[in-house]
Amino acid sequence: MIRRIHHVGIVVKRLTDAYVFYRDVLGLPLLREAEIPEQGVKAALLAAGDSEIELLEPLGPTTPVGRFLARRGEGLHHLCFETPDVGGSLASLGTRGVELIDTTPRAGLAGRIGFLHPRACSGVLVELATPPALHDEHPSPLRLKRLVIGADDVKQTAGLFQGLFGFQEVAMNGGPRTMLAVGRGALLVVPAHEVGGTAGLVALSCVAEDFFALTAALRKAGTPRLDGTGEVTVEPEGSHGVHLHISRYMFP
Ligand code: CO
Repeated sequence: MIRRIHHVGIVVKRLTDAYVFYRDVLGLPLLREAEIPEQGVKAALLAAGDSEIELLEPLGPTTPVGRFLARRGEGLHHLCFETPDVGGSLASLGTRGVELIDTTPRAGLAGRIGFLHPRACSGVLVELATPPALHDEHPSPLRLKRLVIGADDVKQTAGLFQGLFGFQEVAMNGGPRTMLAVGRGALLVVPAHEVGGTAGLVALSCVAEDFFALTAALRKAGTPRLDGTGEVTVEPEGSHGVHLHISRYMFP
């Protein structure tokens, strides 16, 4: 039922400020920007390989996203899976007793969308979307590959995502982590104690098409980061609250 990670939603104070990093420094093409008053946000979609990054600016402090910003600050907010029939997917989850925010689809930036309740997915807010047209991949210098989820019980959380969405487990060489394939991307479920006690969305991993051009752009912009060999980790204060890991290659 799920074809890919459609996008990852990131709450920011102001889109125009966030564009400086995501569009101008990272070079992600801006695909769409729109105000969605019924969701209380101004939202933008930027291409990141087979997936997209959605930036969300609250329209006011009492909107759901405004309250999230006040409570948690800027950072990862939700993840969205693409399904060919969001209405059918919501109905089928509903009949299985899965707790939903939307029982029928509504209009969103990504097309027809609907949200599951975070209680249904180990504290992760999950959106389902059916885009208006067939997906055509936009060229972008970064490809979103993995989303890291912290869990108090890795097996239970991974099992929940497998049961709800039919994801297959990717073999890993042991350890307490579980990787689930989602289209050409993946979810990596790790013990919460390994990621500062955070249960829920904790980090994004991307692959750079031209790693040297990317590191040069980060250096020029003075983005706070940790440089490694063939990989760089952008500090959350440089990326609007997101632990962003960018590598030259992505090993399975
Ligand atoms: Co979204």
